[in-house]
Amino acid sequence: MNFKNVGIVGLGSYVPERIVTNFDLEKMVDTSDEWIKSRTGIEERRFAAEDQATSDLAVEASKKALEKAGLTAEDIDFIILATGTPDYLIQSTACIVQEKLGAKNAAAFDLNAACSGFVYALTMGTALIKSNMYKRVLVIGTEVLSRVVDMQDRNTCVLFGDGAAAAVLAEVEPGYGIISQYLGAEGEDQETLRVPAGGTRKPITPEVLEERSNFLKMKGPEVFKFAVKALPKATISAMESGNVSVEDISMVFPHQANLRIIEAASKRIGIPVEKFYMNLNKFGNTSSASIGLALGEALDKGLVKKGDVIALTGFGAGLTYGSMIIKWAY
Ligand code: UT7
Repeated sequence: MNFKNVGIVGLGSYVPERIVTNFDLEKMVDTSDEWIKSRTGIEERRFAAEDQATSDLAVEASKKALEKAGLTAEDIDFIILATGTPDYLIQSTACIVQEKLGAKNAAAFDLNAACSGFVYALTMGTALIKSNMYKRVLVIGTEVLSRVVDMQDRNTCVLFGDGAAAAVLAEVEPGYGIISQYLGAEGEDQETLRVPAGGTRKPITPEVLEERSNFLKMKGPEVFKFAVKALPKATISAMESGNVSVEDISMVFPHQANLRIIEAASKRIGIPVEKFYMNLNKFGNTSSASIGLALGEALDKGLVKKGDVIALTGFGAGLTYGSMIIKWAY
């Protein structure tokens, strides 16, 4: 069987207008711009407007991705939407996006791999096209984390932001496109990073609201330790399976969680930190949107060109991690 070459043929991103700076957060919790900047690299983030939900951000990013790909919504035959903050618990956000875009020929479902979601979803979409089952897959990473972080918890509320990124996957010319990928999960770390209540294990009750367990809880230092191992493991494994060397990589697009995590990962992988694209100072951690947001910005600046070999790499709740190596196709 001849597998197709699959690549990203259009990418778009979107962030809400409202900017929340570290100084704004100083007025809400016991924190400081100095602490946030020195421990994470984050200076500001975007929060969705009251009337914006996760699907609304996804639609904006998707429209741009379709335009860049020169396609219409009806050309898409599958939508995979990665999120940990869906519009609703039941009814996938992908179906809401399908309707809003008018992608009436597309099957649609959500995927939750937290901050690794974009890489997981790109991998699934690539497999669908490679196997000749579908032709054009719209992959979206989208989050409204501002609705699930506890604005009274300084350990988490300073880290996260809202945003969306979308990529159209399709067949590309031989020699280009997705070279390799590596996905992993370590489900044994059960309480490291999750929203404890609001699902079937612990439905919302007055007690839940009282203890605020309907908001995100995180053991930050544990995630940090996991991340500095998981990012190198995923990236190096993907490079090895694609027969790609560190010298071949022109740029890395890491999950935008923490500058110190990225610096540590760069050392372990052996790729200079200058090759790691970062915009977490402006957008914070946007979970499944962050890698696409970074890639979209670099593309707009002309920093990624046809033939460049790039790595996408992420880690997140689950715990999950994943990496993808791409020879850029346009
Ligand atoms: O997408 C995946 C999601 N999560 C992550 O990527 C997070 C990974 N972890 C991290 O990025 C870091 O662990 C954090 C940025 C969350 C925390 O940095 P840290 O250097 O590991 O700090 P820490 O948690 O060990 O806390 C150090 C101190 C503590 O005070 P004491 O106990 O030493 O007195 C915290 O209470 O900093 C305090 N602290 C803060 N102080 C001011 C924690 N959050 C804040 C804050 N402002 N916002």
